[in-house]
Amino acid sequence: MQTDFLVIGSGIAGLTYALKVAQDCPDRKITVLTKTQSDETNTKYAQGGIAGVMDFDQDSFSKHIEDTLIAGDGLCNPHIVEIVVKEGVQRINELIEWGAQFDREPDGDYKLGKEGGHSESRILHHKDVTGKEMERALLEAIKKCTNIELISHCFVLDIITQHHLGFLVTKSTPDIECYGVYVLNQATNQIEKIVARITMLAAGGNGQVYRSTTNPEIATGDGVAMIYRAKGRIENMEFIQFHPTALYEAGVRGQSFLITEAVRGDGGILRNQAGEAFMERYDSRKDLAPRDIVARAIDSEMKIHGTENVFLDCRHMDQAKFMEHFPNIYEKCLSVGIDVAKDMIPVSPAAHYSCGGVKTDEWARTSIKNLFAAGECASTGLHGANRLASNSLLEAMVFAHRAYKQSLLEINIPLLVKSSEIPDWNAAGTMAPKEMILITQSLKEMKLLMSDYVGIVRNNERLYRANRRLDLLHEETETLYEKTEVSPQLCQLRNMITVAYLIVKSAELRRESRGLHFNTDFPERSPILQNTIL
Ligand code: FAD
Ligand code: SIN
Repeated sequence: MQTDFLVIGSGIAGLTYALKVAQDCPDRKITVLTKTQSDETNTKYAQGGIAGVMDFDQDSFSKHIEDTLIAGDGLCNPHIVEIVVKEGVQRINELIEWGAQFDREPDGDYKLGKEGGHSESRILHHKDVTGKEMERALLEAIKKCTNIELISHCFVLDIITQHHLGFLVTKSTPDIECYGVYVLNQATNQIEKIVARITMLAAGGNGQVYRSTTNPEIATGDGVAMIYRAKGRIENMEFIQFHPTALYEAGVRGQSFLITEAVRGDGGILRNQAGEAFMERYDSRKDLAPRDIVARAIDSEMKIHGTENVFLDCRHMDQAKFMEHFPNIYEKCLSVGIDVAKDMIPVSPAAHYSCGGVKTDEWARTSIKNLFAAGECASTGLHGANRLASNSLLEAMVFAHRAYKQSLLEINIPLLVKSSEIPDWNAAGTMAPKEMILITQSLKEMKLLMSDYVGIVRNNERLYRANRRLDLLHEETETLYEKTEVSPQLCQLRNMITVAYLIVKSAELRRESRGLHFNTDFPERSPILQNTIL
């Protein structure tokens, strides 16, 4: 298949980019790929909302910029922060024009929520299902564009570069070029090549590397892993954000249900086993301190009390308002026997967001030619060492827009190679998998070691051990990969082991504690501000 614009991912970043390109270039072909159903994305699960300066009487760009810089703990790129905050408002308005609805006050003004680290109320939301509403609006708008083809259940295996034409490509190759991708099309069970003039990587996050995560099963870091294999630049992978309040359900594995930070914004209070509102002992901003601080405080309380969770107390809140703002959370809690008017909600931290990723510049260009990246898989410089709540949906839209602008300047460059020069996928020597246990057991081991050794609090010994164990898992998985027919399960395991390695390696290189990375052997901040680039 040949296309003009190839988009990997159907979340907010991929769909925003596809829509903009399609509307501007009606004669061009746009192909969007997604590995399961079109709406199964991190985007769909976003609860709290999208941050943006909407009330200029109370709020200002400089306050939002300042909050983002404070959360980022010295590592944000101030130029990028300014771009996102200032351009973000236009992007939110476009989303509204495409049909997304945000909650309003009776007088018509937007209801603005507050979350940790924000000095003002500036979060637009659609009850507690903001992401679902955004994804709905974007997918509906996409359907109206006849030049967009959205292919679901199509798993991207690797991007195609000179390496596949037989040239040696290393980290120091100056002009690595992207010609498209190899995919496993699950409708045909065939491996196909898709050649593209421009490729946009919008493949989302990697929460599934950990045992407990708010991310759905699709969040396996495929985008970062494939760019690392293609020798592209990866940045700041040690900064994994743990959301402080995922619903704690004993024995439940897989995706944890999120209790949005907006609940604390509306007055919810964290309490330990003894019923104490402990956050005041950790930070003057109490329950609304930035996420790294709250997650570490919870971790510490759980260790002191020897428990698997703390509690979020909403019993004192106006229950009618709670049900109006958080109907999804209310229902979920009821379904597991928790009445928020009478019971405290058991919560514990869970892997939530990857601040690092594929390194991009201010136009969303990666280190590989013809390849853009936006959304959670990208490292733009906005988040630094810790993302401010509700800034990621905003960032995804701003850089999808910037990638679109830059793509228009590059689309007329002739294709760098003829499609016929690109070889088909080489499956020689591979056989049908003999037993799934080889994949599922390695997956369990990886998740466990990442959660136990590379979680909220790290130290040198834990990182060293994690590295050694990952080495073995890597070796065994590569051997399996070489002799087995590819499947999404096997490729995802391979990608997650790569991402886990990148997190551990970056964590080892950062010999300080900053933002989300806390190493008890290096508890202080270093005076040198540095990104970790692999
Ligand atoms: P995603 O929306 O995750 O989309 C990724 C896409 O890539 C999917 O279509 C997937 O199928 C595709 N893909 C991945 N790998 C492959 C492959 N190998 N082949 C083919 N396709 C592939 N942020 C906020 O700003 N505000 C919030 O309130 C908020 N709440 C959140 C709540 C939860 C529970 C979670 C999990 C996240 C939340 N976030 C929030 C973060 C935010 O939702 C994500 O960072 C953002 O939606 C990511 O968008 P994206 O387009 O980059 O990726
Ligand atoms: C939440 O609603 O608490 C999540 C917000 C975010 O991850 O930005």
